[in-house]
Amino acid sequence: MITATTPHTPAAPNEPVARVERVTKRYGEGPGAVVALDDVSLAIAPGRLTAVMGPSGSGKSTLMHVMAGLDTPTSGRAWIGGTEITTLGDEDLTAIRRRQVGFVFQAFNLVPTMDVLGNVYLPFELDDHMATDQQRAWVHQLVDRLGLADRLAHRPGELSGGQQQRVAIARALATRPDLVLADEPTGNLDSRSGAEVLALLADAADTLGQSIVMVTHDAAAAAHASRVVFIADGRLVHELATPTRAEIAEVMLHLEESAAARAAHRAAGRHGRLGRERVA
Ligand SMILES: Nc1ncnc2c1ncn2[C@@H]1O[C@H](COP(=O)(O)OP(=O)(O)OP(=O)(O)O)[C@@H](O)[C@H]1O
Ligand SMILES: [Mg+2]
Repeated sequence: MITATTPHTPAAPNEPVARVERVTKRYGEGPGAVVALDDVSLAIAPGRLTAVMGPSGSGKSTLMHVMAGLDTPTSGRAWIGGTEITTLGDEDLTAIRRRQVGFVFQAFNLVPTMDVLGNVYLPFELDDHMATDQQRAWVHQLVDRLGLADRLAHRPGELSGGQQQRVAIARALATRPDLVLADEPTGNLDSRSGAEVLALLADAADTLGQSIVMVTHDAAAAAHASRVVFIADGRLVHELATPTRAEIAEVMLHLEESAAARAAHRAAGRHGRLGRERVA
Protein backbone atom coordinates (compact mmCIF):
# COMPACT_ATOMS: atom_id res chain seq x y z
CA MET A 1 0.00 0.00 0.00
CA ILE A 2 1.21 3.52 -0.71
CA THR A 3 1.32 5.63 2.41
CA ALA A 4 2.15 9.23 3.16
CA THR A 5 5.35 8.03 4.81
CA THR A 6 6.68 6.35 1.66
CA PRO A 7 10.12 7.85 1.05
CA HIS A 8 10.06 10.44 -1.69
CA THR A 9 13.10 12.60 -1.96
CA PRO A 10 12.79 14.86 -5.00
CA ALA A 11 16.00 15.95 -6.63
CA ALA A 12 17.41 19.19 -5.27
CA PRO A 13 17.63 21.95 -7.94
CA ASN A 14 20.35 21.11 -10.46
CA GLU A 15 20.88 17.67 -8.98
CA PRO A 16 20.31 14.78 -11.36
CA VAL A 17 16.71 13.57 -11.57
CA ALA A 18 18.00 10.10 -12.31
CA ARG A 19 21.40 8.51 -12.07
CA VAL A 20 23.05 5.14 -12.53
CA GLU A 21 26.54 4.36 -11.27
CA ARG A 22 28.70 1.50 -12.54
CA VAL A 23 25.62 -0.49 -13.59
CA THR A 24 26.03 -3.93 -15.12
CA LYS A 25 23.16 -6.13 -16.26
CA ARG A 26 23.82 -9.72 -17.20
CA TYR A 27 21.17 -12.10 -18.48
CA GLY A 28 21.84 -15.80 -17.90
CA GLU A 29 24.95 -17.56 -16.64
CA GLY A 30 28.08 -19.16 -18.08
CA PRO A 31 29.26 -18.94 -21.67
CA GLY A 32 25.76 -18.17 -22.99
CA ALA A 33 25.33 -15.14 -20.70
CA VAL A 34 24.49 -11.82 -22.34
CA VAL A 35 25.97 -8.65 -20.85
CA ALA A 36 23.32 -6.07 -21.77
CA LEU A 37 24.92 -3.26 -19.72
CA ASP A 38 28.61 -3.16 -18.94
CA ASP A 39 29.72 -0.70 -16.24
CA VAL A 40 27.46 2.19 -17.25
CA SER A 41 27.40 5.47 -15.31
CA LEU A 42 25.03 8.26 -16.37
CA ALA A 43 23.40 11.23 -14.65
CA ILE A 44 20.33 12.94 -16.10
CA ALA A 45 20.19 16.71 -15.52
CA PRO A 46 16.82 18.28 -14.69
CA GLY A 47 14.69 20.03 -17.28
CA ARG A 48 16.48 18.71 -20.33
CA LEU A 49 15.74 16.44 -23.24
CA THR A 50 18.37 13.72 -23.48
CA ALA A 51 18.49 11.23 -26.36
CA VAL A 52 19.96 7.73 -26.08
CA MET A 53 21.12 6.15 -29.34
CA GLY A 54 22.90 2.97 -30.33
CA PRO A 55 22.66 -0.07 -32.60
CA SER A 56 19.89 -2.63 -32.05
CA GLY A 57 20.69 -4.86 -29.06
CA SER A 58 23.20 -2.37 -27.59
CA GLY A 59 21.32 -2.14 -24.25
CA LYS A 60 19.16 1.01 -24.63
CA SER A 61 15.89 -0.51 -23.38
CA THR A 62 17.72 -2.31 -20.57
CA LEU A 63 19.24 1.02 -19.45
CA MET A 64 15.80 2.70 -19.45
CA HIS A 65 14.29 -0.16 -17.46
CA VAL A 66 17.08 -0.03 -14.86
CA MET A 67 16.80 3.79 -14.59
CA ALA A 68 13.04 3.50 -14.03
CA GLY A 69 13.42 0.73 -11.45
CA LEU A 70 11.53 -1.69 -13.71
CA ASP A 71 14.53 -4.00 -13.75
CA THR A 72 17.30 -4.51 -11.17
CA PRO A 73 20.95 -4.34 -12.23
CA THR A 74 23.27 -7.30 -11.61
CA SER A 75 25.65 -4.83 -9.97
CA GLY A 76 25.88 -1.08 -9.54
CA ARG A 77 23.47 1.50 -8.12
CA ALA A 78 20.57 3.59 -9.40
CA TRP A 79 18.78 6.68 -8.07
CA ILE A 80 15.53 8.46 -8.92
CA GLY A 81 15.80 12.01 -7.60
CA GLY A 82 17.58 11.77 -4.27
CA THR A 83 16.39 8.22 -3.54
CA GLU A 84 18.55 5.20 -4.20
CA ILE A 85 16.17 2.70 -5.80
CA THR A 86 18.54 -0.27 -5.90
CA THR A 87 18.05 -0.80 -2.16
CA LEU A 88 14.29 -0.12 -2.00
CA GLY A 89 11.61 -2.72 -1.34
CA ASP A 90 8.92 -3.37 -3.97
CA GLU A 91 6.21 -1.21 -2.39
CA ASP A 92 8.38 1.88 -1.95
CA LEU A 93 9.83 1.46 -5.41
CA THR A 94 6.37 1.20 -6.96
CA ALA A 95 5.25 4.34 -5.13
CA ILE A 96 8.24 6.35 -6.34
CA ARG A 97 7.80 5.11 -9.88
CA ARG A 98 4.13 6.07 -9.92
CA ARG A 99 4.75 9.54 -8.55
CA GLN A 100 7.95 10.58 -10.23
CA VAL A 101 8.33 8.60 -13.46
CA GLY A 102 6.37 8.34 -16.70
CA PHE A 103 7.44 5.49 -18.96
CA VAL A 104 6.69 4.99 -22.65
CA PHE A 105 7.44 1.33 -23.40
CA GLN A 106 8.87 0.23 -26.72
CA ALA A 107 5.91 -2.21 -26.86
CA PHE A 108 3.39 0.41 -25.52
CA ASN A 109 2.00 -1.88 -22.73
CA LEU A 110 -1.53 -0.48 -22.91
CA VAL A 111 -4.32 -2.23 -21.01
CA PRO A 112 -6.29 -3.99 -23.76
CA THR A 113 -9.62 -4.00 -21.88
CA MET A 114 -9.58 -0.24 -21.24
CA ASP A 115 -10.41 2.46 -23.74
CA VAL A 116 -8.06 5.33 -24.62
CA LEU A 117 -9.25 7.60 -21.81
CA GLY A 118 -9.07 4.75 -19.28
CA ASN A 119 -5.48 4.05 -20.29
CA VAL A 120 -4.46 7.71 -20.09
CA TYR A 121 -6.03 8.14 -16.62
CA LEU A 122 -4.50 4.87 -15.36
CA PRO A 123 -1.55 6.54 -13.52
CA PHE A 124 -4.03 8.57 -11.41
CA GLU A 125 -6.06 5.46 -10.67
CA LEU A 126 -3.00 3.41 -9.72
CA ASP A 127 -1.88 6.16 -7.37
CA ASP A 128 -5.40 6.12 -5.89
CA HIS A 129 -6.28 9.73 -6.51
CA MET A 130 -8.83 11.51 -8.66
CA ALA A 131 -7.48 13.90 -11.25
CA THR A 132 -8.15 17.54 -10.35
CA ASP A 133 -9.93 19.87 -12.80
CA GLN A 134 -6.54 21.30 -13.76
CA GLN A 135 -5.14 17.81 -14.39
CA ARG A 136 -8.19 16.94 -16.50
CA ALA A 137 -7.71 20.08 -18.57
CA TRP A 138 -4.07 19.06 -19.13
CA VAL A 139 -5.06 15.53 -20.18
CA HIS A 140 -7.55 16.95 -22.68
CA GLN A 141 -4.91 19.26 -24.07
CA LEU A 142 -2.57 16.26 -24.39
CA VAL A 143 -5.01 14.00 -26.21
CA ASP A 144 -5.92 16.91 -28.50
CA ARG A 145 -2.31 17.64 -29.40
CA LEU A 146 -1.67 13.95 -29.95
CA GLY A 147 -4.65 13.71 -32.32
CA LEU A 148 -6.53 11.21 -30.15
CA ALA A 149 -9.61 13.29 -29.33
CA ASP A 150 -11.88 11.30 -31.67
CA ARG A 151 -10.61 7.93 -30.43
CA LEU A 152 -11.16 8.27 -26.69
CA ALA A 153 -13.71 5.45 -26.42
CA HIS A 154 -11.68 2.98 -28.51
CA ARG A 155 -9.69 0.12 -27.05
CA PRO A 156 -6.04 -0.43 -28.03
CA GLY A 157 -7.00 -3.37 -30.30
CA GLU A 158 -9.08 -0.94 -32.37
CA LEU A 159 -6.21 1.51 -32.85
CA SER A 160 -3.31 1.65 -35.29
CA GLY A 161 0.25 1.13 -33.98
CA GLY A 162 0.93 4.86 -34.20
CA GLN A 163 -2.28 5.71 -32.33
CA GLN A 164 -1.39 3.21 -29.57
CA GLN A 165 2.03 4.81 -29.32
CA ARG A 166 0.43 8.24 -28.89
CA VAL A 167 -1.85 6.87 -26.11
CA ALA A 168 1.26 5.52 -24.34
CA ILE A 169 2.85 8.99 -24.60
CA ALA A 170 -0.27 10.73 -23.27
CA ARG A 171 -0.31 8.27 -20.36
CA ALA A 172 3.34 8.93 -19.51
CA LEU A 173 2.87 12.72 -19.56
CA ALA A 174 -0.57 12.80 -17.87
CA THR A 175 0.62 13.28 -14.28
CA ARG A 176 3.50 15.58 -15.32
CA PRO A 177 6.13 13.43 -13.63
CA ASP A 178 9.62 14.82 -12.95
CA LEU A 179 11.16 12.21 -15.20
CA VAL A 180 9.80 10.80 -18.46
CA LEU A 181 11.58 7.83 -20.02
CA ALA A 182 10.44 7.15 -23.56
CA ASP A 183 11.68 4.10 -25.45
CA GLU A 184 11.48 4.93 -29.16
CA PRO A 185 8.42 7.18 -28.79
CA THR A 186 8.35 8.04 -32.49
CA GLY A 187 9.21 4.58 -33.82
CA ASN A 188 5.72 3.90 -35.19
CA LEU A 189 4.70 7.41 -36.18
CA ASP A 190 4.42 9.12 -39.53
CA SER A 191 6.48 12.28 -39.89
CA ARG A 192 3.66 14.65 -38.89
CA SER A 193 2.71 12.83 -35.65
CA GLY A 194 6.40 12.18 -34.96
CA ALA A 195 7.07 15.92 -35.16
CA GLU A 196 4.14 16.64 -32.81
CA VAL A 197 5.43 14.10 -30.26
CA LEU A 198 8.92 15.60 -30.39
CA ALA A 199 7.51 19.10 -29.97
CA LEU A 200 5.51 17.86 -26.95
CA LEU A 201 8.57 16.26 -25.37
CA ALA A 202 10.75 19.31 -26.02
CA ASP A 203 7.99 21.54 -24.54
CA ALA A 204 7.73 19.29 -21.49
CA ALA A 205 11.42 19.90 -20.88
CA ASP A 206 11.58 23.60 -21.84
CA THR A 207 8.35 24.98 -20.40
CA LEU A 208 7.37 22.46 -17.71
CA GLY A 209 10.91 21.70 -16.53
CA GLN A 210 10.41 17.95 -16.90
CA SER A 211 13.40 15.76 -17.63
CA ILE A 212 12.95 13.60 -20.68
CA VAL A 213 15.14 10.70 -21.74
CA MET A 214 14.25 9.38 -25.16
CA VAL A 215 15.65 6.35 -26.97
CA THR A 216 15.62 6.83 -30.71
CA HIS A 217 17.13 5.45 -33.90
CA ASP A 218 16.28 8.64 -35.75
CA ALA A 219 19.03 11.28 -36.02
CA ALA A 220 16.44 13.98 -36.82
CA ALA A 221 14.53 13.14 -33.61
CA ALA A 222 17.72 13.09 -31.54
CA ALA A 223 18.68 16.52 -32.92
CA HIS A 224 15.87 17.98 -30.72
CA ALA A 225 17.83 16.92 -27.64
CA SER A 226 20.30 19.08 -25.75
CA ARG A 227 22.43 15.99 -25.10
CA VAL A 228 22.82 12.76 -27.05
CA VAL A 229 24.51 9.73 -25.46
CA PHE A 230 25.59 6.77 -27.56
CA ILE A 231 25.69 3.19 -26.35
CA ALA A 232 27.36 0.21 -28.05
CA ASP A 233 27.64 -3.33 -26.72
CA GLY A 234 26.30 -2.24 -23.33
CA ARG A 235 28.80 0.59 -22.85
CA LEU A 236 28.45 4.36 -23.10
CA VAL A 237 30.88 5.17 -25.87
CA HIS A 238 30.26 8.77 -26.87
CA GLU A 239 28.20 11.86 -26.22
CA LEU A 240 27.37 15.10 -28.01
CA ALA A 241 25.95 18.40 -26.72
CA THR A 242 23.26 20.11 -28.88
CA PRO A 243 24.40 18.23 -31.97
CA THR A 244 23.11 18.65 -35.49
CA ARG A 245 21.39 15.83 -37.32
CA ALA A 246 24.47 15.34 -39.51
CA GLU A 247 26.83 15.04 -36.52
CA ILE A 248 24.53 12.44 -34.93
CA ALA A 249 24.18 10.50 -38.18
CA GLU A 250 27.95 10.34 -38.54
CA VAL A 251 28.48 8.83 -35.06
CA MET A 252 25.62 6.35 -35.60
CA LEU A 253 27.03 5.26 -38.94
CA HIS A 254 30.38 4.58 -37.31
CA LEU A 255 28.77 2.62 -34.41
CA GLU A 256 26.61 0.55 -36.74
CA GLU A 257 29.58 -0.29 -38.94
CA SER A 258 31.60 -1.41 -35.90
CA ALA A 259 28.63 -3.45 -34.60
CA ALA A 260 28.28 -5.17 -38.00
CA ALA A 261 32.03 -5.87 -38.12
CA ARG A 262 31.94 -7.39 -34.61
CA ALA A 263 28.92 -9.55 -35.52
CA ALA A 264 30.71 -10.77 -38.67
CA HIS A 265 33.82 -11.52 -36.63
CA ARG A 266 31.79 -13.53 -34.07
CA ALA A 267 30.02 -15.44 -36.86
CA ALA A 268 33.38 -16.22 -38.53
CA GLY A 269 34.68 -17.50 -35.17
CA ARG A 270 31.65 -19.75 -34.77
CA HIS A 271 31.98 -21.15 -38.29
CA GLY A 272 35.68 -21.68 -37.76
CA ARG A 273 34.96 -23.66 -34.61
CA LEU A 274 32.20 -25.68 -36.28
CA GLY A 275 34.48 -26.36 -39.23
CA ARG A 276 37.23 -27.68 -36.97
CA GLU A 277 34.73 -29.80 -35.02
CA ARG A 278 33.50 -31.33 -38.27
CA VAL A 279 37.05 -32.15 -39.31
CA ALA A 280 37.90 -33.64 -35.89
N1 LIG B 1 15.13 -10.80 -20.74
C1 LIG B 1 16.25 -11.00 -21.44
N2 LIG B 1 16.90 -12.18 -21.42
C2 LIG B 1 18.06 -12.37 -22.10
N3 LIG B 1 18.64 -11.42 -22.87
C3 LIG B 1 18.03 -10.22 -22.93
C4 LIG B 1 16.81 -9.94 -22.24
N4 LIG B 1 16.46 -8.66 -22.50
C5 LIG B 1 17.40 -8.16 -23.33
N5 LIG B 1 18.34 -9.10 -23.59
C6 LIG B 1 19.55 -8.94 -24.43
O1 LIG B 1 20.26 -7.81 -23.95
C7 LIG B 1 20.80 -7.05 -25.03
C8 LIG B 1 20.30 -5.62 -24.95
O2 LIG B 1 18.90 -5.61 -25.20
P1 LIG B 1 18.05 -4.26 -25.26
O3 LIG B 1 16.62 -4.64 -25.41
O4 LIG B 1 18.41 -3.42 -24.10
O5 LIG B 1 18.63 -3.62 -26.60
P2 LIG B 1 18.17 -2.27 -27.37
O6 LIG B 1 19.38 -1.43 -27.51
O7 LIG B 1 16.99 -1.68 -26.69
O8 LIG B 1 17.80 -2.83 -28.81
P3 LIG B 1 16.65 -2.34 -29.87
O9 LIG B 1 17.18 -1.10 -30.53
O10 LIG B 1 16.55 -3.46 -30.82
O11 LIG B 1 15.38 -2.09 -29.09
C9 LIG B 1 20.39 -7.79 -26.31
O12 LIG B 1 21.46 -8.60 -26.72
C10 LIG B 1 19.20 -8.62 -25.87
O13 LIG B 1 19.11 -9.79 -26.64
MG1 LIG C 1 15.02 -1.42 -27.26
